[in-house]
Amino acid sequence: MERCGVKDNFGREITYLRISVTERCNLRCRYCMPEEGICKMDHAQMLSQEELVMAVRAAAACGINKVRITGGEPLVKKNILSICESVAAVPGIREVCLTTNAMLLPGMAQQLRNAGVGRINISLDTLDPEKYQWITRRGTLREALAGLDAALRAGFSKVKINSVLIGGFNDDEIPALASLSKDRPVDVRFIELMPMSENLAFGKNAYISYKRVLEVLPELEEMPADGGVAKLYRLPDAQGNIGLISPISAHFCGTCNRLRLTSDGRIKPCLHSAEEYPVKGLSEEEMKKQFEVAILGKPEWHGELSREIRSRAARSMNQIGG
Ligand code: GTP
Ligand code: 5AD
Ligand code: SF4
Repeated sequence: MERCGVKDNFGREITYLRISVTERCNLRCRYCMPEEGICKMDHAQMLSQEELVMAVRAAAACGINKVRITGGEPLVKKNILSICESVAAVPGIREVCLTTNAMLLPGMAQQLRNAGVGRINISLDTLDPEKYQWITRRGTLREALAGLDAALRAGFSKVKINSVLIGGFNDDEIPALASLSKDRPVDVRFIELMPMSENLAFGKNAYISYKRVLEVLPELEEMPADGGVAKLYRLPDAQGNIGLISPISAHFCGTCNRLRLTSDGRIKPCLHSAEEYPVKGLSEEEMKKQFEVAILGKPEWHGELSREIRSRAARSMNQIGG
């Protein structure tokens, strides 16, 4: 199939597809999922592996060259290794990445690497064992750090840590989390909390700007951008970068290059928009048309977001995959 390199209506070239392979998760992070979990989706509603790979082929024909596998937690999906392997084998896909909470990485990191996953991002919001258990409602810091170290041993080309900044919870840990980039060859990214329906309980002080990191760490030196959503910095003598992701105080929609695909086969042109374009049950050619329609339907930006004005996405974060 020929690559058509579709640009959206605002001149943005769309090259990155984030695929949520499951809404389920072995944790229940307070900003992402309700404690009781979610209603299990009917198997028949979900994309099969064959349909998922067909969708990736259709997306590649529209210029997608990078795929990130997300969840929920992608590693709880039974056939995840086979999915990664078959996505990595799609012509035109240059990079397969994965975002995980790391609980299952100790047993799976090497297999993921062997299945063609190039880079791994790991969610880790605190280095305090009790706070870790509180924010995730069920994980342990020990498992998360074991997962991180397993990823570092497995030889991924890059390992990044994602820390969601929450005022009153982990803003006192900015130096400790940032220091991980000194002790290990990892990037540490601080992410502004996005107001989704799950995190209504967080008070207004929870929403802090990425600028807090620059105030706490004046020794940060600017680094050249790598094409991702984070502004990059580095601590003196560190092995990895510090990234600041500011969806609220300085959104990056002007350079957005991504689409999302949900586990029930709906293309989302923007994380925060309610529009969705179904591909389940379609032929590859029809899927390609849907990708083109979704690219042309991509909004210029996600609209106002704040503690009062919440995301218009009709789904929770675990259903979208971040
Ligand atoms: P790289 O490929 O390493 O650049 O990864 P990534 O930053 O694209 O992916 P990751 O899954 O690690 O996401 C990091 C954070 O950025 C998460 O909090 C995501 O929700 C957020 N994020 C990713 N893409 C977007 C986006 O298009 N809009 C907004 N507002 N946030 C995003
Ligand atoms: N705001 C910001 N980041 C979030 N993530 C999940 N929910 C939110 C939110 N409300 C992050 C997770 C994970 C990534 C995929 O998205 O920490 O690393
Ligand atoms: Fe699970 Fe990730 Fe959501 Fe935490 S942020 S509940 S690890 S999907």
